[in-house]
Amino acid sequence: MNTIQIKTKSKEYQVFLGEGVSHNIPLFLTEHFPQLTKIMIITDELVAKIHLDSLLQKLKKWDPIVFITPSGEQAKTFEVYYQALSAALENHLDRKSLILSFGGGAVGDLSGFVAATFMRGISFIQIPTTILAHDSAVGGKVAINHPLGKNMVGAFYQPEAVFYDLAWLSTLPPEEIRSGFAEVIKHALIHDQEFYEWLIASIESLDSITAQQLSYFLMKGIEIKNVFVSEDEKEHGVRAFLNFGHTLGHAIEAEMGYGNFTHGEAVLIGMIFALKLSEEVVGLSFNHEKFVSWIEKLGYVVKLPNQLSAQRLISWMKQDKKSIDQSVRFVLLEEIGEPILKEIDDSLLIESLNQF
Ligand SMILES: NC(=O)c1ccc[n+]([C@@H]2O[C@H](COP(=O)([O-])OP(=O)(O)OC[C@H]3O[C@@H](n4cnc5c(N)ncnc54)[C@H](O)[C@@H]3O)[C@@H](O)[C@H]2O)c1
Repeated sequence: MNTIQIKTKSKEYQVFLGEGVSHNIPLFLTEHFPQLTKIMIITDELVAKIHLDSLLQKLKKWDPIVFITPSGEQAKTFEVYYQALSAALENHLDRKSLILSFGGGAVGDLSGFVAATFMRGISFIQIPTTILAHDSAVGGKVAINHPLGKNMVGAFYQPEAVFYDLAWLSTLPPEEIRSGFAEVIKHALIHDQEFYEWLIASIESLDSITAQQLSYFLMKGIEIKNVFVSEDEKEHGVRAFLNFGHTLGHAIEAEMGYGNFTHGEAVLIGMIFALKLSEEVVGLSFNHEKFVSWIEKLGYVVKLPNQLSAQRLISWMKQDKKSIDQSVRFVLLEEIGEPILKEIDDSLLIESLNQF
């Protein structure tokens, strides 16, 4: 088992990572929550079908309440948020109760926001089940979506711990492996050239990732995330660099309709675009062809879907939380591992998108 200490201004906590770490949850609860009144597990319908029994077995002693959401982005609606709060109230959760978030990033974002707002905040623990959640379960950004924008209603609210049992990940379908691995690539590109070189040399196919490789790249990804959130928990500065690829990525997701394109796959197209812009605007020297041919080999879409118009994508990008006064700000790379934030004017953006 690997343990990573996450340090933010508001809280320090541990990520336990490895095959079988969920067996340690009962002991952790006994030691850290002696006055625990109730547990509410929030999970989605797919994860519930495959893995919930196994988690419930471990938590029998506490007889948890289970709240099941739709799978995917549909978990992050106002309606589901409202229903989760109703379930918490109907089942008499109180300030000594605990929420366990069991699923991917969508369930994690929703559960964290429920925990942050129920009775002005109760404890929660992340039990991630996707590769992507190495990113979303750490750092304390929790949110639901508004029809006018993704993650527009949320909070910074840290979990008490993260139990990342790699055994849960064995049932992920290929598109979700691709989605999560895109965020691993992001972490390497924004912070660690050596890690990026390791990824490109070692991961030749996403169908044959070994347990050792999985554990190594998730650990590296979490450590890199920790570097940014420990310095800047509330995104006044360097934390914004974690949004590399997300400005265009979020616009693609919104324009395609949430859930029709996975988060990471959209972000990956956003990263290819941001790398191109970085070469043109801030002089990044980078072997673009090598990167794109690696990405294609791993099964990613590397171009904008045809039906998307540059103008519509730009109007989505202007709603991005990094944008100020309607000007679009991109995370670009001066070098691999050296991100900066740069305002890009509309004419260059349209030209670059049309060329892309
Ligand atoms: N809070 C943050 O810092 C942060 C960072 C990145 C992304 N996010 C958010 O995370 C979400 C995306 O995360 P995600 O891709 O994990 O999403 P997700 O929770 O929607 O999971 C993706 C799909 O995989 C299924 N699934 C989950 N675990 C499984 C398993 N073990 N086996 C089989 N299927 C499984 C889910 O049911 C779902 O259909 C987005 O909403 C994004 O905004 C948040």
